[in-house]
Amino acid sequence: MKRFPKHFTWGSATASYQIEGAARADGKGESIWDRFSRMPGRVANGDTGDVACDHYHRYEEDIQLMKELNLASYRFSVSWPRIFPEGTGAVNQKGLDFYKRVIDTLMTNGITPAITLYHWDLPQAMQDRGGWMNRDMAEYYLEYANRMFTEFGDVVPSWITLNEPWVVSYLGYGSGEHAPGYTDMYAHFQAAHHLLLAHGKAVASFRELNRNPDSRIGITLNMNSTYPAKEGEAYERAARLWDGFLNRWFCDPVFKAAYPQDMIDAYERYQPVSFIKEGDLQQIAQPIDFLGLNYYSTAHMEPAESGEAGLTGANAFLGVRGVSTGRVVTDMGWEIQPEGLYDLLTRIKRDYGDVPLYITENGAAYPDHVDADGQVNDDERVDYLHQHLAACHQAIEDGVDLRGYYVWSLLDNFEWAFGYDKRFGIVHVDYETQKRTPKKSAYWFRDVIRNNGL
Ligand code: FCB
Repeated sequence: MKRFPKHFTWGSATASYQIEGAARADGKGESIWDRFSRMPGRVANGDTGDVACDHYHRYEEDIQLMKELNLASYRFSVSWPRIFPEGTGAVNQKGLDFYKRVIDTLMTNGITPAITLYHWDLPQAMQDRGGWMNRDMAEYYLEYANRMFTEFGDVVPSWITLNEPWVVSYLGYGSGEHAPGYTDMYAHFQAAHHLLLAHGKAVASFRELNRNPDSRIGITLNMNSTYPAKEGEAYERAARLWDGFLNRWFCDPVFKAAYPQDMIDAYERYQPVSFIKEGDLQQIAQPIDFLGLNYYSTAHMEPAESGEAGLTGANAFLGVRGVSTGRVVTDMGWEIQPEGLYDLLTRIKRDYGDVPLYITENGAAYPDHVDADGQVNDDERVDYLHQHLAACHQAIEDGVDLRGYYVWSLLDNFEWAFGYDKRFGIVHVDYETQKRTPKKSAYWFRDVIRNNGL
């Protein structure tokens, strides 16, 4: 038996837009995903989060499920437009009440809440002011964050400022696959900077407010291990550039108060980085209590010609391309490589020091269905989770301070541009009836938690 440390936190993660539904209920404002999902061709099947898992009305049932599965912690996100329908100014009390009910129900059931403040559903009214391209967004975000700290900071012990700022800025502003759907690499870097600034401001304010001396704050990044696809200097360079773009652009400012010079150089070949102002990096580098990692796959990179046909977005910008290595893939087409998780965990310790780490997301999509006996036999997901937990265990054995693991996701849900086509849950959701059916992986995970080991 591979045992985990005594106080290891076991949990599951979700995000507001992906599960709540109730898109216009009780005074909620429009979010950029409400808008984006209605634009033709943006989301598979024209799916929207209007109803999703209807968690807004079924949170009690869902929390009972968590309890049955032995989950000790639940990572969920707050929908900013439920709290501030216009992004700033007037507060929607009913929105606050919803999260109060969720938090109370969790605590009554002995489940520790972990709140993500921003998991992508920006109020549309904020987008109308330029969204994350607008530097003022950091102040608006701070207003929202402060309200949440004031409201729930005494009881909620764990706070995450942002979920995956790279995805927000790159998929939202660079490649355009996510809301708001822009395709401008400069906008990406700018948005990323303002997101980091928002993060730093919130951390500083969290300390100042000090609602509960035992509570902790951190950020969640989607870091990958990036490898050269082949031996050779050009391949090493390609991997290093992608690492700079995806990983170091976020980790370096947070931990070292500096952007990676190779990325600044890449950017400045085209345009000056005038959006970085005096004092910003000090603001961003507020000490955090933990780093959250969302890990799914790896990247194997090779050099490409910037002008090459078919090369777009960051690939064209950096002159690199990811290639397949022939490993087995999940339903997302993402290659399964658990050693990449081990490499990532040990790398963070090596490059950024001994910061407490949490896996805030890890999981896999498969085309699950409920069989004639009412079972969902997702053996591939069990394998995936097993292999990745084994990698976590190995990293802990080798001295990494990994404190917890949140499976993505509790429920099948709205998988952004893929709509409801991709199922990541350990619990199956029938979207017609809203029936929840725990999959084999849910029972497996329940036992892992019970044994605190594999
Ligand atoms: C992550 C997101 C999460 C989910 C998983 C599959 O990038 O944080 O919302 O979509 O991927």
